[in-house]
Amino acid sequence: MNKITIAIDGFSSTGKSTIAKQVANHLGYIYVDSGAMYRAVTLYAMNQGIINKNGFDVETLIKKLKDIKISFKFNKDLGFAEVYLNGNNVEQTIRSLEVSRFVSKVAAVSAVRKKLVAIQRNIGKSKGVVMDGRDIGTVVFPDAELKLFMTASPETRAKRRFKELISRGDDVVYENVLKNVQERDYIDSNRKDSPLIKANDAIEIDNSNLSLEEQFEKVLQLVGIALEVSEIKKSD
Ligand code: CDP
Ligand code: CDP
Repeated sequence: MNKITIAIDGFSSTGKSTIAKQVANHLGYIYVDSGAMYRAVTLYAMNQGIINKNGFDVETLIKKLKDIKISFKFNKDLGFAEVYLNGNNVEQTIRSLEVSRFVSKVAAVSAVRKKLVAIQRNIGKSKGVVMDGRDIGTVVFPDAELKLFMTASPETRAKRRFKELISRGDDVVYENVLKNVQERDYIDSNRKDSPLIKANDAIEIDNSNLSLEEQFEKVLQLVGIALEVSEIKKSD
């Protein structure tokens, strides 16, 4: 069967990575968490003191971009690829609320986006990829055969993220998680370069009241249709 590209965009904690992993496993496709790449660059900037209590030194980050190597390695036990920053596995470290506080500022820097989009396009060049993020359907893969745009209310999303952070042992307050979700929504949607917007041809899924199973079922139907359409186009 023909391989397609599936782009999943949307707001923070809308279940993008959960559905992307499920669909990739189901189809035997590669899953790429593009947000993990922006988080890894942010962690680098924090570790190097480029982001510190005095602020964010954008010029230094741009100069140091050539020293940042981001890669993915498949973890058989987890069933997905974990992200590595200069050879170190940072899959867990990048998920902290501390990294979440700065990541949208880092992601608004065009030079950062340019570097990461090039890596993303290279990974997806042979299709058979499910990628989630903010600009996948609009900028990274504008020709993706299936584009989904995930939404849910900010409170639902903050509750989901709070539960996740607590269960991994992070000491966080719900109000701060909600504030971070809202701040990132705002910065991501209003930045000049590649803002978070629904592509014209994306299908919107509001999963505020959908369980993971219901959401998977709905998306599988859409995947089935996209695969059929792509087969028909190929045979034309
Ligand atoms: O998992 P969560 O929804 O919290 O966020 P993420 O997907 O890990 O992305 C973290 C941040 O990276 C987002 O808030 C965006 O600022 C940025 N990002 C982006 O600008 N473009 C992407 N394609 C993916 C993420
Ligand atoms: O990738 P993104 O930040 O959009 O979200 P995620 O990491 O896939 O999902 C955030 C949390 O919401 C996870 O703990 C999911 O299990 C949960 N979730 C849910 O409970 N119900 C949904 N319909 C979607 C996600």
